[in-house]
Amino acid sequence: MSDPKKLFIKTYGCQMNVYDSERMAEALSGNGYVQTQSAEDADMILLNTCHIREKAAEKIYSELGRFKALHDAKPDLKIGVAGCVAQAEGEEIMRRQPMVDLVVGPQSYHRLPAMEQAVARGEKALDTDFPEEDKFEKLKARPKVARGPTAFLTVQEGCDKFCAFCVVPYTRGAEVSRPADRILQEARDLVAAGVREITLLGQNVNAYHGAEGGLADLIWQLDKIEGLSRIRFTTSHPNDMDQALIDAHATCGKLMPYLHLPVQSGSDRILKAMNRKHTAAQYVDLIARIRSVRPDLLLSGDFIVGFPGETDQDFEDTMELVRTVNYGQAYSFKYSTRPGTPAAEKAQIDDGLATERLHRLQALLTTQQRAAQQSMVGREVSVLFEKVGRLEGQLIGKSEYLHAVHAVAPRGDIGQIRKVRIVESVTNSLGGELVA
Ligand code: 5AD
Ligand code: SF4
Repeated sequence: MSDPKKLFIKTYGCQMNVYDSERMAEALSGNGYVQTQSAEDADMILLNTCHIREKAAEKIYSELGRFKALHDAKPDLKIGVAGCVAQAEGEEIMRRQPMVDLVVGPQSYHRLPAMEQAVARGEKALDTDFPEEDKFEKLKARPKVARGPTAFLTVQEGCDKFCAFCVVPYTRGAEVSRPADRILQEARDLVAAGVREITLLGQNVNAYHGAEGGLADLIWQLDKIEGLSRIRFTTSHPNDMDQALIDAHATCGKLMPYLHLPVQSGSDRILKAMNRKHTAAQYVDLIARIRSVRPDLLLSGDFIVGFPGETDQDFEDTMELVRTVNYGQAYSFKYSTRPGTPAAEKAQIDDGLATERLHRLQALLTTQQRAAQQSMVGREVSVLFEKVGRLEGQLIGKSEYLHAVHAVAPRGDIGQIRKVRIVESVTNSLGGELVA
């Protein structure tokens, strides 16, 4: 048998890309590829790209430029671009960077094995279709190799919401849900391979409709899998938080008390311009309803500042919403124009002003995040240990609230859930002691 060929994948962007990268590596394993962590070693380099914010394509072109020397030294090296930049740029990538052999969009990577064969014959391969067939049906079952204690599982892709700033409906296409039985099978296989916690992924995961009762129904079916201890899901739209899903946060013991629920802005005027289809008050009311059933839930969000037309008052409304909701965790971004989206046609606000607003918002969010962490000190939490820590004897894992927690613990506790008393809060993690 010939030596395996080596595949180096670099993943950008969201957790769905992390999941897709795993599946692409699995798909190419049938063509004789094993993964390497070093680009220098690789026979094929695959960039799995993200297009959500500005300059994404330019970053990929400069990254490709950096691989040019490697390619010159090793002309057999194959180079591929996958993900949302591949979808958006298509053959333009090969035109601008002729050394690229393969361009594959997020909905067609089940065709990678055939594309790789074409590339091995010296051809170029391009596929940015939204094919009729379901890629998950075409991909082989996931290999039964031992895995770490946590895993992602994509259950839904694409988005029909068309927020005015967002490229997702164009790069990932229309909303599609995977059938529940396939997801349950994949979950059982993951658990058999050592996984204790599964995070269900979707661009609009709570719009999942592959089970009769939506995402809550799927969660309850997953709840029955023995050996699966924790379930999470991300990322959600406020308008798809139905009562069954809210109730599951109170009654499903495996569903963790953490919710990522982006609002983007606290101004009704801007929410309308963003086509979010809800008001700030409706969002605040929704949060109150969720917290009434699960008061300790840690809430996370996404914000965009500097959307076209955002006034000082609009921004102050966002600050006010943040003060009202009190987030345990959040991500905030300066608006960036995405060609082809409705907001791209509108006049942009001053960049310096947007930067100033971003800094103010981030300062507030950081204060809230630190306070949420600090409030854990003295409390007992459950930690699923994932790996060894930086210091001798230490393990690192996540609490039910998704806080990173480090504690001195036996190595055999990796993959186990242990009670830990939190003793300190440091910048991005908590320190604790095992409770005997
Ligand atoms: N500009 C800035 N942020 C954006 N996001 C999506 N599109 C844009 C854009 N054009 C942010 C939103 C979304 C997160 C994944 O990325 O906050 O929730
Ligand atoms: Fe983009 Fe999310 Fe809006 Fe869909 S709901 S268009 S993925 S921001």
